[in-house]
Amino acid sequence: MRTTVECHNKNIIQAYRARLLHFTNDPAYDQQSTAWFEDGLLIIAEGKVIAAGNYDQLKQTLAEDTVIHDYRGKLIIPGFIDTHLHYPQTDMIASPADGLLPWLERYTFPIERKFADTNYAHEVAQFFVDELLRCGTTTAMVYGSVHQESVEAFFLESESRNLRMVAGKVMMDRNCPTFLQDSAETSALQTETIIKKWHRRGRQLVAITPRFAPTSSESQLQLASELVRAYPEVYLQTHVSENVNEVAWVKSLFPKARSYLDVYDSYGMLRPKSMYAHCIWLDDNDRTRMMQTQSAVAVCPTSNLFLGSGLFDFERADKHQQLLSLATDVGAGTSFSMLHTMNEAYKVARMQGTHLSALRLFYLATLGAARSMQLEGTIGNFSTGAEADFIVLDLSATPLLARRTSHAESLEELLFCLAMLGDDRAVLATYAAGCVVHKRAH
Ligand code: GUN
Ligand code: ZN
Repeated sequence: MRTTVECHNKNIIQAYRARLLHFTNDPAYDQQSTAWFEDGLLIIAEGKVIAAGNYDQLKQTLAEDTVIHDYRGKLIIPGFIDTHLHYPQTDMIASPADGLLPWLERYTFPIERKFADTNYAHEVAQFFVDELLRCGTTTAMVYGSVHQESVEAFFLESESRNLRMVAGKVMMDRNCPTFLQDSAETSALQTETIIKKWHRRGRQLVAITPRFAPTSSESQLQLASELVRAYPEVYLQTHVSENVNEVAWVKSLFPKARSYLDVYDSYGMLRPKSMYAHCIWLDDNDRTRMMQTQSAVAVCPTSNLFLGSGLFDFERADKHQQLLSLATDVGAGTSFSMLHTMNEAYKVARMQGTHLSALRLFYLATLGAARSMQLEGTIGNFSTGAEADFIVLDLSATPLLARRTSHAESLEELLFCLAMLGDDRAVLATYAAGCVVHKRAH
């Protein structure tokens, strides 16, 4: 069943009463960064946040006849942001393989071939967007397939729900089956066509998307880097240092590069608005370069555990002040849920003796991601003027969640329970630009 956009009169002030949480900074470094209201009110108009704060205080600013939507007992937070996933891989999620490279050959390339069929692309895009919204994800950085039309199908779907999404056409001209190969020139031309049509059309944003260094010739990387320079407002997304065999392969393909990341660096691809997935096998030199250039990391724990790629080192990343966010990396990732992703991120850190607080996990899935995408002030928190993308979380979504959260003694404990025990069932409603885009069935 298709999710419809349900909007009360868009221009009229809407108010939502609930427990309210958002961040103004990284709670790992700033104790004042958590905006938490036990009895809160979120006021929006024309799809933007007017105010977020205490109910008692803010109620007085409202006209007498303002309708207040009553979500008391529930928790409202900004919509989740998933900074890396592949919509063409929806139908092959949960396909086991002996590591990244065999997984790509055996499942990924064959399924992505199907996106030559535009009808299939539209059908998958619709399901994919439904699934994101069911999980409370209102913004994502999405890979299409190598087919230009796959990106068109995705943007049409996203635009029809008025979502803030980023997407791009995979550029891939070598080391893949011929049925998925483009050429350096056509990939650049098609990417530019997509940029001109879709970047900043409504809430849509485009990413230049070379799949990863092994599947791009030097001339394709060169043309991608020219696009990166010509369009500084457009995103760049790719993969780096995910798997040891992949890292060795890159070393043999690019013998002059100092490291895998250095391949991208040598093409001028480290810059703000670039999103690098995985970043497991970086060295400190790489981490410093990413920090200096404001290149961001998409940490993909469910994917990295599923494929046996490795454990992301949060402590070293923090030491180098890297821009961090969480991502599902569907279909190597095993869930669309950012709550589930937090759960696995916590365990990945734990395996290395690092403690990630629940506050930090929720920050990484909201404002941390917005900052990584240079979108602070637009999405990721409830600052005045931000776009009203938010979710209503049900702390009693399952009997176990209800029982465990009923005696949580702090916000940290409450959020930790949600991260460990929650999933799509905890998302009661999802709002995009102030409109309902998902409501959980009873
Ligand atoms: N590296 C290159 N392509 C892919 C992909 O589709 N998924 C993952 N996890 N890694 C990749
Ligand atoms: Zn990926």
